[in-house]
Amino acid sequence: VIDIAALYKHTGAFTYDPGFTSTASCESKITYIDGDEGVLLHRGYPIEQLAEKGDFLEVCYLLLYGELPTAAQKQDFDYRVTHHTMVHEQMQRFFTGYRRDAHPMAVMVGTVGALSAFYHDSTDITDPHQRMVASLRMIAKMPTIAAMAYKYHIGQPFIYPQNSLDYASNFLRMCFAVPCEEYKVNPVLARAMDRIFILHADHEQNASTSTVRLAGSSGANPFACIAAGIACLWGPAHGGANEAALNMLMEIGTVDRIPEYIARAKDKNDPFRLMGFGHRVYKNYDPRAKIMQKTMYEVLEATGNSGDPLMQVALELEKIALNDPYFIEKKLYPNVDFYSGITLRALGFPTTMFTVLFALARTVGWIAQWNEMIEDPQQRIGRPRQLYTGAPQRDYVPLSKR
Ligand code: ACO
Repeated sequence: VIDIAALYKHTGAFTYDPGFTSTASCESKITYIDGDEGVLLHRGYPIEQLAEKGDFLEVCYLLLYGELPTAAQKQDFDYRVTHHTMVHEQMQRFFTGYRRDAHPMAVMVGTVGALSAFYHDSTDITDPHQRMVASLRMIAKMPTIAAMAYKYHIGQPFIYPQNSLDYASNFLRMCFAVPCEEYKVNPVLARAMDRIFILHADHEQNASTSTVRLAGSSGANPFACIAAGIACLWGPAHGGANEAALNMLMEIGTVDRIPEYIARAKDKNDPFRLMGFGHRVYKNYDPRAKIMQKTMYEVLEATGNSGDPLMQVALELEKIALNDPYFIEKKLYPNVDFYSGITLRALGFPTTMFTVLFALARTVGWIAQWNEMIEDPQQRIGRPRQLYTGAPQRDYVPLSKR
């Protein structure tokens, strides 16, 4: 029997909170969530207004600097981000070193981590100027890296950034243009892509953001910290849920099979969960899911997929789940990932790219949170405690006597 009190006699107050359900790790001024009311604010602005009226780089500016930019500030910021869209030519060799069938998220973890091997002049975290250069570099280069991961995956040549285009259009072009053909970005799809980026830009202290903060708390360089965030995001309980949600909808296939899956989700002996449902903080409809649903309709219409059978399955699944006592009692509602898969697929992305797109968009949140942490005078290395339940002290027994 372990005497816990004795083990912790020197620590004073001690909390045991698996999954950090009620422990704040930091103060933050960036994002506010009211999970019971389904409210999400960035620097005080509702996500609905930002997604409807703003553009992604404007939201990036807001997250980084705390205020919406003036027209001149916006122009300057767009220019500064655009200036950094290229990646070092030698980085191409990283991509070609991976197997073509590698998951693009595996490629992202490795390649983004490798940025610190190329951009040494922005790794001094004590210098605010270098921190801002690193931040702009990350925001600017993520679309290029994500598009390169995609192009390598499908065996097509890399497309260089075109800086005359806006952020989302440039990204779509790098993904879908081929050198031998004319490519014109559909403005409806570019706007939808931009809105999807806005919806994923930040979400306070979720698992990947906390990972970035924890990695950064040791003084690690920003590129390494973002790579750590990407690794965490990949999991199916977090960013990987958009891929898992679409796979689930495809597996269900037809509306008549929904009850079978609802029953499985409720069965305690079955590990199956409805992907794209439930959230640690939202105990109400995720406000991002509503905007995502609207974006889905726009994209399906613009791409001639208004009759997408998966959309019918998703809408019916939502209807059935929201009227089921199990989901009502546990307050399980669709989250942002529920409708994003159908939308991204209609935009032309394979499921393996879904989490990559999430990582691209979340980069600004990670980097804003990382900057906030570095500037916080209270910042200390993150060092969670533990509740030790192992063996008490005992003496070493020589090998011959065991
Ligand atoms: N389907 C069925 N049951 C569920 C689901 C679900 N999607 N989500 C939660 N539950 C049940 C759990 O079984 C648990 O039941 P119990 O109290 O009887 O044991 C209860 O609801 C609470 O679930 P927890 O896992 O304890 O809640 P937690 O806050 O830890 O998890 C999470 C939240 C991980 C998002 C969970 O709801 C889940 O796995 N959802 C599916 C994956 C998903 O969509 N992830 C995306 C999250 S959003 C994002 O990252 C952008």
